[in-house]
Amino acid sequence: MASPMDFLKACENRRTIYQLTDKIPISDARVEEIAKHNILHVPSSFNSQSTRIVVLLNEEHKKFWEITKECLKPQVPEEQFPQTEKKLDGFKAGHGTILFLNDPNPVKKLQSQFALYAQHFPGWATQSNAMAQYHLWTALEAEGCACNLQHYNPIVDQRVAGEWNFPQEWELQAQLVFGGYAEGAREAVEKGGKQQQPIEERLFIHGSKA
Ligand SMILES: Cc1cc2nc3c(=O)[nH]c(=O)nc-3n(C[C@H](O)[C@H](O)[C@H](O)COP(=O)(O)O)c2cc1C
Repeated sequence: MASPMDFLKACENRRTIYQLTDKIPISDARVEEIAKHNILHVPSSFNSQSTRIVVLLNEEHKKFWEITKECLKPQVPEEQFPQTEKKLDGFKAGHGTILFLNDPNPVKKLQSQFALYAQHFPGWATQSNAMAQYHLWTALEAEGCACNLQHYNPIVDQRVAGEWNFPQEWELQAQLVFGGYAEGAREAVEKGGKQQQPIEERLFIHGSKA
């Protein structure tokens, strides 16, 4: 079994990397294996398993970013669009995009089964979805990929449901973009360090016998 430090190191290694290439150090089969691990092992409230994951690779990934451009074009002022397009092309330069969605049906079922907790289930589904995002982000970076997390929902929701044939009612929560590191991309984030607010204002421990 891997040591607990491996997990902590992987968490530490996870960063937001925008400069991506389409060459990743692992196979698409390995990406699929990690996505399966995610769907099987990330917890959900009452084991509701409400998260849905759609993995888009290679040409399908590129198509997602073209669709995003098409959806954004009518919404962004014309003079700003070249800038937006440049940003989206940066994501498109990667290898894959993972869509994280919530299926509302398991949530509704739990709400009718457990009326006492009804108001909490949507929030718990969102929390579980976020755990899935963090799992894949950290796991892919541990495998040597570079990632960033985006939110072009709900602008693209309808188009992507039609394009990749999943129910319109699934709610898109986030998009994890991944690829290889463009030259100098890792060094640049490490040089910048991590901007941290004071730990003592954010972490409180009581009763430690350390
Ligand atoms: C819930 C959540 C939402 C985020 N949304 C975006 C986003 O829409 N676009 C983006 O570029 N980064 C997004 N980020 C990335 C954060 O800006 C980034 O994680 C944070 O600045 C810390 O930097 P690091 O990831 O390098 O540690 C998001 C992160 C989280 C946890």
